[in-house]
Amino acid sequence: MAKAHELVVYVNGKRHHLPSGAADWTLLQYLRHVGLSGTKLGCGEGGCGACTVMVSRRNVQTGKIEHRAVNACLCALYSVENCHVITVEGIGNLRRGLHPVQEKLAHAHGSQCGFCTPGFVMSMYALLRSKHEPPTEEEIEEALAGNLCRCTGYRPILDAFRVFAKADTQAYAQELGGNGVQGVTSGGIESGGKKICPGTGLPCENGCSRQKVCSRSEAHDGKKQNVDHNNDDAELIFPPELMTRTPEALHLPGKTCTWHRPTDLTSLLDTKQQAPNAKIIVGNTEVGIEMKFKHAGYPQLVDGSAIPELNEIHVVEESLVVGSSVTLSTLVDYLRSNTQCKGTDMAVAFLRQLKWFAGLQIRNAAAIGGNICTASPISDLNPLLISCNATFEVQSKGNTSRFIQANAFFLGYRKTAMQPEEVLVRVHIPLSKPFEYVQEFKQAHRRDDDIAIVNAGMRVRFKPPEGADPLWLVEDVAIAYGGVAPCTVIARDTAAFLVGKPWTQDTLRIALDIASQEIKVGKEAPGGMVEFRNSLVTSFLFKFFACSGLKLSSDAGEQAVGEMPAGARSAAKPYERPPSKGLQYWGPPADGRKLCDERIPVGEPVMHMAAELQVTGEAQYSDDCWPAGTLVGALVASKYPHAKIVSIDPSNAIVMEGVHGFFSARDVPGSNAIGAVALDEECFATDEVTAVGQPIGILVAETEQQARAAALKVHVEYEELHPILSIKDAIAANSEYEGEGHSIVKGDARSAFDSGEYLIMEGECRIGGQEHFYLEPQNTLVVPGEGSEISMFSSTQAPMKHQKMVASVLGVSANKVVCRTKRIGGGFGGKETRSFYVACAAAVPAYLLKRPVRLCLDRDEDMQTSGHRHAFLCRYKLAYTAQGKLVAIDAHLYNNAGNSLDLSTSIMDRALLHLDNVYNIPHMTCKGHVCKTNQMSNTAFRGFGGPQGMLVMEMILEKVAASVGKSAVEVREMNFYKVGEKTHYGQALENARHLDCWTQVIENSEYHCRRLAVDEFNRASKLRKRGISVVPTKFGISFTTKFLNQAGALVHIYTDGTVLLTHGGVEMGQGLHTKVAQITAATLGIPLSSVYVAETATDKVPNASPTAASASSDMYGAAALDACQQLVARLKPYMDKLPGKTFKEVVNAAYLDRVDLSAHGFYKTPDVEGFGSCRPFNYFCFGASVSEVEIDRLTGDFQVLRTDIVMDAGNPLNPAIDVGQVEGAFVQGMGWCCIEELVWGDSEHKWVKPGQLHTRGPGTYKIPTANDIPIDFRVSLLTGKPNNRAVASSKAVGEPPFFLSTSVFFAIQDAIRAARVEDSNSLDFTLDSPATPERIRLLSADKLTGWQIAEDIRPNGSW
Ligand SMILES: Cc1cc2nc3c(=O)[nH]c(=O)nc-3n(C[C@H](O)[C@H](O)[C@H](O)COP(=O)(O)OP(=O)(O)OC[C@H]3O[C@@H](n4cnc5c(N)ncnc54)[C@H](O)[C@@H]3O)c2cc1C
Ligand code: FES
Ligand code: FES
Repeated sequence: MAKAHELVVYVNGKRHHLPSGAADWTLLQYLRHVGLSGTKLGCGEGGCGACTVMVSRRNVQTGKIEHRAVNACLCALYSVENCHVITVEGIGNLRRGLHPVQEKLAHAHGSQCGFCTPGFVMSMYALLRSKHEPPTEEEIEEALAGNLCRCTGYRPILDAFRVFAKADTQAYAQELGGNGVQGVTSGGIESGGKKICPGTGLPCENGCSRQKVCSRSEAHDGKKQNVDHNNDDAELIFPPELMTRTPEALHLPGKTCTWHRPTDLTSLLDTKQQAPNAKIIVGNTEVGIEMKFKHAGYPQLVDGSAIPELNEIHVVEESLVVGSSVTLSTLVDYLRSNTQCKGTDMAVAFLRQLKWFAGLQIRNAAAIGGNICTASPISDLNPLLISCNATFEVQSKGNTSRFIQANAFFLGYRKTAMQPEEVLVRVHIPLSKPFEYVQEFKQAHRRDDDIAIVNAGMRVRFKPPEGADPLWLVEDVAIAYGGVAPCTVIARDTAAFLVGKPWTQDTLRIALDIASQEIKVGKEAPGGMVEFRNSLVTSFLFKFFACSGLKLSSDAGEQAVGEMPAGARSAAKPYERPPSKGLQYWGPPADGRKLCDERIPVGEPVMHMAAELQVTGEAQYSDDCWPAGTLVGALVASKYPHAKIVSIDPSNAIVMEGVHGFFSARDVPGSNAIGAVALDEECFATDEVTAVGQPIGILVAETEQQARAAALKVHVEYEELHPILSIKDAIAANSEYEGEGHSIVKGDARSAFDSGEYLIMEGECRIGGQEHFYLEPQNTLVVPGEGSEISMFSSTQAPMKHQKMVASVLGVSANKVVCRTKRIGGGFGGKETRSFYVACAAAVPAYLLKRPVRLCLDRDEDMQTSGHRHAFLCRYKLAYTAQGKLVAIDAHLYNNAGNSLDLSTSIMDRALLHLDNVYNIPHMTCKGHVCKTNQMSNTAFRGFGGPQGMLVMEMILEKVAASVGKSAVEVREMNFYKVGEKTHYGQALENARHLDCWTQVIENSEYHCRRLAVDEFNRASKLRKRGISVVPTKFGISFTTKFLNQAGALVHIYTDGTVLLTHGGVEMGQGLHTKVAQITAATLGIPLSSVYVAETATDKVPNASPTAASASSDMYGAAALDACQQLVARLKPYMDKLPGKTFKEVVNAAYLDRVDLSAHGFYKTPDVEGFGSCRPFNYFCFGASVSEVEIDRLTGDFQVLRTDIVMDAGNPLNPAIDVGQVEGAFVQGMGWCCIEELVWGDSEHKWVKPGQLHTRGPGTYKIPTANDIPIDFRVSLLTGKPNNRAVASSKAVGEPPFFLSTSVFFAIQDAIRAARVEDSNSLDFTLDSPATPERIRLLSADKLTGWQIAEDIRPNGSW
């Protein structure tokens, strides 16, 4: 039994006694501290879901056990006292057996880099545990909305979990095609398939037809493990001790923070009376962020979750009364189930708003009181509460309750009418009455888990007419907006006008006019997007008018309202998204694809080799395990984009507790100069800083908290210098890296321009950058050895670069420095060169202190300092025929390289090489300009400049099509290369497959019929428009720097017949190790399970090129093949001598005969000559895609209805992995061109500090979620087209599909065009990339909402 005040938590069934003095710890810190490293830190701000765990607690009121998924990174450690925490390690592992959720995810190829995987597993697991019947597909998608994955494109994850959904029996079937033709359908399930058990997700012969989730899984030890998700006994049980143990009042003093947990209201009021500044926390989803990212220190935290009064929820006298600590998920459950609430307009509006409120993990933790008391201007609930006439009941010690109307509660930015000693006790929300309609609105960058740009709550009550006029009149109305001012605001004038008015178009027109005058975002308002936000004010009001009018006419008859405005029905159409579905198709293996052994053909869709480790959380990343005595580093970085360093004073920092030292440039033992190609960076800045985030020094301490706190105390004095913050600034200041911008010239563009024969056009394309958002942040662990030996465990795509740079910074030779990388949690190019400065910074103190030092960047630091995909700008001039044939182009491409050269020249080179995409333009002059700016150096990102080059060309072709009045499809086809023609740099298009992909995708997608259907839809729908587009791609494979096209591999055969494979490539989720192991197994004729890949290390395979350029499986596969072929040749005599013997027996015979059973293989890509030659590429990959979208003109919202892709992958080494790469690249590409927007402090965003990145975390920077992927997502690999220029006739697949996502961009542009046609607006408009809701809304410029947007508007961006 628990002793008094013993702090008890159960973790995975084991009793833990919580440490004292840990009031400011998060649950995640604790879990990782006790060695449970399966729970990952992706962002620390509740935005990625990598840290998801399940918390089970007994509800003291109901006595029931509640299971909820929560973000461990925000969950205060002491808040789980008396709870049971289950982490990914607790539900299954490789030894005991996988849990069905883990097993299904692994087998469905739902884990690539695996860093997000434990979070997805736990979200799904908690959903199953929390429900008493199988969830629906919608519930599954909703439960995963708070989990981000940057690799998979989500489809395989959704498919993996779909088997747990409630559906008809057919939905548990899956079809596996016969005859070697592999085709897997998801969502739409084919008949004739095998039965899959809804519980296990595995084929089941039991004939069990019950719809309940019944799991029966076979543990690896052979023991049956009955898993019934409704029965706690079958899973980790809720600890009996906690069944009876009620939460006690706690008072836990600590050094910096004291934790209080009152268990009754009187004690809470007492505490607040004694310490008015004590912070009440429930979910900690606001306070946690303030403490971590805004460095707010709260000496007293008061847990408000154990007070019965604050947890009550009931209906009293026609009002819903909600205790302030009631979590949002509990509120949702109540609104859905309580008979008095259910179905009322108020309840429906709250439910709809809460659906888009954060992710489920946040809703499970966050309370209604926290949302109200934070008084955020973008709170989603406050506008609704105001419009519903809610009242807030507050109380302080010794006083009776005070009731404050919601519309008088919010006084200013995060300021309320409550006194410091007061506590919000209850919220009273009147239930809506007949003829009273409530509507919620929210527009964000992304639908799921995003904070609002503008939101609103609106309510109107009608009364019957008094005279002969049949029109009903407005009796009461309330309208409140968020996101337009420092606090939620009320449109009082608009409401006053509406009272007593009939619901007619005249009323609407005047109301829109008043609202647009009354609610106006100021020109320089923080958050920017002024025109967009202002337009949303009237868009929402228009929608409210349409929705309420339609409801009233349905309830009271058509005569009750005036004629609805045109487009009312489409304006009122609610957002709907069915569960997504997909189709993946690949053809039969072509002849000759098998290397050696019939049993292990290369080309099998085998599971990622580490998938089972990843789903159980056993897969280790470099930050998962530190040796004893490891110190922790925190960077001291520049605050200015350009400044002289006047002085650095660490004196206040180095005296702090736990601090071991501060290290800056003067401490660097070797050379301070570092860089990817040119050594133009410094390990630590000396005299001048040239970007915000540039490292100036590193502070090293015993713990991360100590290091970070001390780093803040290092005083750096600067003298500010003029910064260059954008490409435009750089052009104006002529700021380029000299000699770095190359040119490609074909034909004579000038003569074509001067000939007078052609139409001429000039223009400018703008393409924004992109954050890599790998889920695992940059990190390294540097461990000194004897003498000057150094070992590094780094999350990098380029271990050799780490070795080289660290050796140089420390002044030691490369043979003493080893870099090891087991796997990385995503890289996408961001860890190709931008990881070594992290290693260099940590190496200096590790070397000097002779202690291991770990440095892991926080997400915001990582985003600010580690560079992005380059923003591009292109100024062009064209000559083209009246039919749309491009004759000449003169293009100047500018990229934003940032403050060092890094790889920007090669990235620009690739953009120039890809400018042609699949088009033969007779005359091309293209010149690259590598702009030097005061951003941290931008860097490699999937596609490496290629997508930017191709996007420029596609933007141009669409302009040409619009200019000559033809369809973009026709103009594209007219300009296609013909097979055998040469590119603008002179490489012949051997085996060109763009026409195959194009024709097939048009056919598969039924493009032409759907084009007609889209046009038909647009004729009938005024405010929702659809668009459809087809885009082709051609992507060159090879490093364009010749010497990088080399690779090594090492294969050891052991006498038990197993093989250890090591090669120079890094596993970052792309399945490289699996593919190379498949080649190894096939060549040696052994099962795949006999091959093991331990890690990538510079002491095993030296001088390896970075894992990049999509070429790794080609190169390392070929190098491994070379090693294996040497071994096969050595073993051949023994195979011949011992026919019918096993591999192990053959190997043993060779061993006894003293044969070397280890071989080093090497490969250099033949024929390639690099940039400047006419053969920069070994070969090309081709593809094409069709996407269809629907946009909401009034808000800029969009959905991708369907995407079809045909991708040329040669004979795939592993088609399942290749499909995963296609889907992942496509969704990441969609992020780039439609969703993700980097916002920098520059001339277009004056509300952000100069040179600061505003979008520094998942809260502000939005990558696609599962809800953003195409609703119908079909991927086919081109069949029967082997590639004779790569190993096993395969093709590279990592980068080539990325560009296909622009079919979504152009489909959006097509839909905007339809919107402009509708209102006779000019069709000469420019959609810059990304096509965010802001751009969609503003370019769709409608004349209905009373907010007149200039026809030629071009919203701001950071380029
Ligand atoms: C990833 C993420 C996504 C988010 N998405 C959204 C979103 O979509 N929409 C949105 O509106 N918000 C969003 N938020 C903000 C936040 O989740 C909400 O405001 C939430 O409701 C806060 O509740 P909490 O219990 O976590 O508050 P806490 O952090 O525990 O407390 C917040 C504040 O309220 C005060 N407080 C709490 N209870 C009382 C009380 N009874 N009396 C007096 N003061 C009290 C606290 O002292 C503190 O100042 C998001 C946050 C995160 C981290
Ligand atoms: S680490 Fe917790 S949500 Fe990202
Ligand atoms: S597998 Fe999801 S982030 Fe890598």
